Amino acid sequence: MNMNTFFFFTSLVFCLLASLFSSCFAGNVTYDRRSLIIDGQRKLLISAAIHYPRSVPGMWPGLVQTAKEGGVDVIESYVFWNGHELSPGKYNFEGRYDLVKFVKIVQQAGMYMILRIGPFVAAEWNFGGVPVWLHYVPGTVFRTDNEPFKHYMQNFTTFIVNLMKQEKLFAPQGGPIILAQVENEYGYYEKFYGDGAKRYVTWAAKMAVSQNIGVPWIMCQQSDAPDSVISTCNGFYCDQFTSNSPNNPKIWTENWPGWFKTFGARDPHRPAEDVAFSVARFFQKGGSVHNYYMYHGGTNFGRTSGGPFITTSYDYEAPIDEYGLPRLPKWGHLKELHRAIKLSEHALLKSEPTTLSLGPSLEADVYDDGSGVCAAFLANLDDKTDKNVVFRNVSYHLPAWSVSILPDCKNVVFNTAEVGSLTSVVEMAPEELQPSVASASKGLKDLKWDIFVENTGIWGVADFIKNGFVDHINTTKDTTDYLWYTTSIIISENEEFLKKASRPVLLIESKGHALHAFVNQKLQGSASGNGSHSPFKFKNPISLKAGKNEIALLSMTVGLQNAGGLYEWVGAGLTSVKIEGINNGTLDLSMSKWTYKIGLQGEHLGIYKPDGLNGIKWVSTSEPPKNQPLTWYKVVVDPPSGDEPVGLDMINMGKGLAWLNGEEIGRYWPIESSKHEKCVDECDYRGKFFPDKCLTGCGEPSQRWYHVPRSWFKPSGNILVIFEEKGGDPTKIMFSKRKTSSLCSHVAEDFPMVDQESVSKVGSGKSSVAHLKCPKNTSISNVKFASFGNPTGRCGSYSKGDCHDPNSTSVVEKVCLGKNECAIELTEENFDKGLCTGTSKALAIEAVCS
Ligand code: GAL
Repeated sequence: MNMNTFFFFTSLVFCLLASLFSSCFAGNVTYDRRSLIIDGQRKLLISAAIHYPRSVPGMWPGLVQTAKEGGVDVIESYVFWNGHELSPGKYNFEGRYDLVKFVKIVQQAGMYMILRIGPFVAAEWNFGGVPVWLHYVPGTVFRTDNEPFKHYMQNFTTFIVNLMKQEKLFAPQGGPIILAQVENEYGYYEKFYGDGAKRYVTWAAKMAVSQNIGVPWIMCQQSDAPDSVISTCNGFYCDQFTSNSPNNPKIWTENWPGWFKTFGARDPHRPAEDVAFSVARFFQKGGSVHNYYMYHGGTNFGRTSGGPFITTSYDYEAPIDEYGLPRLPKWGHLKELHRAIKLSEHALLKSEPTTLSLGPSLEADVYDDGSGVCAAFLANLDDKTDKNVVFRNVSYHLPAWSVSILPDCKNVVFNTAEVGSLTSVVEMAPEELQPSVASASKGLKDLKWDIFVENTGIWGVADFIKNGFVDHINTTKDTTDYLWYTTSIIISENEEFLKKASRPVLLIESKGHALHAFVNQKLQGSASGNGSHSPFKFKNPISLKAGKNEIALLSMTVGLQNAGGLYEWVGAGLTSVKIEGINNGTLDLSMSKWTYKIGLQGEHLGIYKPDGLNGIKWVSTSEPPKNQPLTWYKVVVDPPSGDEPVGLDMINMGKGLAWLNGEEIGRYWPIESSKHEKCVDECDYRGKFFPDKCLTGCGEPSQRWYHVPRSWFKPSGNILVIFEEKGGDPTKIMFSKRKTSSLCSHVAEDFPMVDQESVSKVGSGKSSVAHLKCPKNTSISNVKFASFGNPTGRCGSYSKGDCHDPNSTSVVEKVCLGKNECAIELTEENFDKGLCTGTSKALAIEAVCS
């Protein structure tokens, strides 16, 4: 039994025993201005957002356990209304939507749960989580004093509350749920809703409280919330936040440890040092519940992503990556921070802080009850200059933009800017698609592909004909991304442009989100908006012939708007179509007769479903067509070897949708960000963070790999179905396995000794320690680099400096080779500490686990 399983079972046994005596969890959840009080006990809580439908049930126990090992006490999730109520009164709690199972996994791990019922959630989730059908219930306006909206909102909230009650999941019933949320950041948008806004806030709070769940309700970013609910903070920093009542504790519902991505945009990064800084500042300033949004971001499977333009990956640069692996050093650095906070918890909760200025931009908060219980936070808020401070007659070095935590008011156990924890290099190791042994006829080594080509334009019977344009979303009602707008024009043989070599230009305007334009069955070009601006224009020369010309425009949504005032009314689709250069003039087709078709034939036939494949005229080939638009591809494959998480490498494809065994992988679109924008090599953690501060990936696809959960694979005969809109090379589709290729540790001689088990041991005169820990079931097989001295570079590219102890590698090898975990002390016995006096020395190690 490994450690994970051991912890899982011990907490399970604990829960089972405890439940014999009524509850596993404390019953009573109250609060005052300092903290939540659970069963009479004050708590400082570290919470982690993991959205259950953004992973699969098979991953849930591991994710929750990794959060627990990371020093997290609480799991937080929104409830995703549109995933649960598919049509009025028709509920779904299967698979990724098995909310009860998720909450019980949290309970079994011995952790608490915060349930953000919303049911509006934003969350970069399609339509902000509100079912699209509700927009079409006559008279409905979302999120204001509107009868149909309130009716359905109350109905769903009550349904979820009753389900949780029935399963005894609220804390007073012995369950893990200690807080619930109604609405989400409504405060930002009240101005769009006139007088109805205030009435709605009051109603929402009252409706929530009347559910009698026995635990407090929160509303985030709602400074005018009624006293019956607690207003909480969302942001990159929340140390200065005050709630709607002085009697409320300071709760931070969303600290964004990274940021989301949109198709065609660069990759945002928030350094671990700044995340830790913001959290330490929050607890320094009296914070009591802190939640990472997201701790595991996961995947927007299928068409669940919102935005529009949010990528299928919702990795979020969170402490656990999309694939479920701890992201290093972020995960480890925050784990050490959590430990430092927990070591200080008693002192923090026992006394009022005294704030001291230690100089310009230098601030100490001391929690000292006078009887020896004392914790201090020393902050350097300067974003450029490191400082030395004297606190209680001891001198401390404070790097710029950092907080040191002293759980005993003497010894620094953690500084937010000093990342001593493990770092890793993670790779996506490619593996070619392997024909399934089960499906391949004997001796067949090549993949066998099946092809189905969509009509360009109307298939089957047209849905309707209309002069002019309809709104895309009002027409599809989001049952599909796709809507065909088709028309035809007659070109006379005497046309001027036919005689000259010139070509007319097709001009299209759309409210969003993307478009492929076909003339006479040929793709003429594509255009799209982006995450900051959905509308776009298309302008391309086209080939027209004398006589009848078919114009078929495939309009697409890329996830529906998920937030903003009156956001449900923002439409999509074409608003203008013209052709320039006909009869030396412009032909405006905007009011012409347009014939419409909703969705694709393949979607209609359920071509991606394993049991829906019969009756479809697939054409078999060993050489699938390349660069061919509107093509469905099917191939039967074996799972990739090993047990690492899997991504589908779509870099050589255009845009479309993918499924494995009928499970929706989601939208793929390896569209590149502009190479002319600004990207950084190194992110300076110092100074206030904002999403555009540290971007990478200029000129690269925003998303190349698409997560395919291992649990979706069968031992053989896996059906991979791809719908490609504009053309790609399916023979280059590969699986990639997510692997930690190297582990690194970089520790300075004077590094605070955060690795020790308790603060009492700190200051025992021991030296700094470098730690390495391989993923489970692997051990250190190679020490790629080791240098005690002044090594430079980062994990994956360290190099020796002019100061180097030649025995470094052999020392590390002796301690670490063959071990799953090892610790090397920076002692005289191990290293030549007299080396290059005057230079501050460190040990850097890069090792390989296998
Ligand atoms: C917040 C919102 C979250 C999420 C976040 C950005 O404003 O409450 O649901 O959208 O922004 O990731």
